[in-house]
Amino acid sequence: MNKLAAKAASALCTLGLSVALATSVYAAVDRDAIIERIQPHGNICVEGDETCGLGGPAPTASAGAAARSGQDIYNRFCAACHATGILEAPKYGSGVMSARAAEKGLDGLLATSISGIGAMPPKGTCNDCSDEELEATIQYMIDADN
Ligand code: HEC
Repeated sequence: MNKLAAKAASALCTLGLSVALATSVYAAVDRDAIIERIQPHGNICVEGDETCGLGGPAPTASAGAAARSGQDIYNRFCAACHATGILEAPKYGSGVMSARAAEKGLDGLLATSISGIGAMPPKGTCNDCSDEELEATIQYMIDADN
């Protein structure tokens, strides 16, 4: 190996080493950035667990907002079927819902609304409805019959 070739080889070696160093430092920085980027956007906070969230009470089914009225829920979730009586849903204002209430009681209607009945899906598609909200909605439909 002549002198020039040896010099070139050692220069290449140094260059290679510094590239490797730079790459590993860069990789370390990058890893932190990646870990930060892949953090979950939200954490599940179980009701009653005071170690998560802002320390305050965990949000309840209605997300801390005031319970929605029966009318709100009816319009948003139930009218799709009950306004027209599609799929043989008791039609709003037709008297069928109050007849069923007379037969099964409000508790009975609440139970079938929660579990679903016939072509009606559980909770009438209002999955985040509390029992109280569903009951108020059923009452709203019964009232429309009277
Ligand atoms: C996808 C259509 C659909 C939606 C949406 C829907 N229902 Fe119904 N619902 C039905 C049908 C169909 C029946 C009749 C089922 C049967 O008797 O077989 C019914 C029946 C009922 C009954 C009578 C249950 C019984 O035991 O006789 C109640 C109460 C009721 N729905 C409440 C609700 C409420 C409250 C909502 C909204 C939160 C809702 N429904 C949304 C289709 C729907």
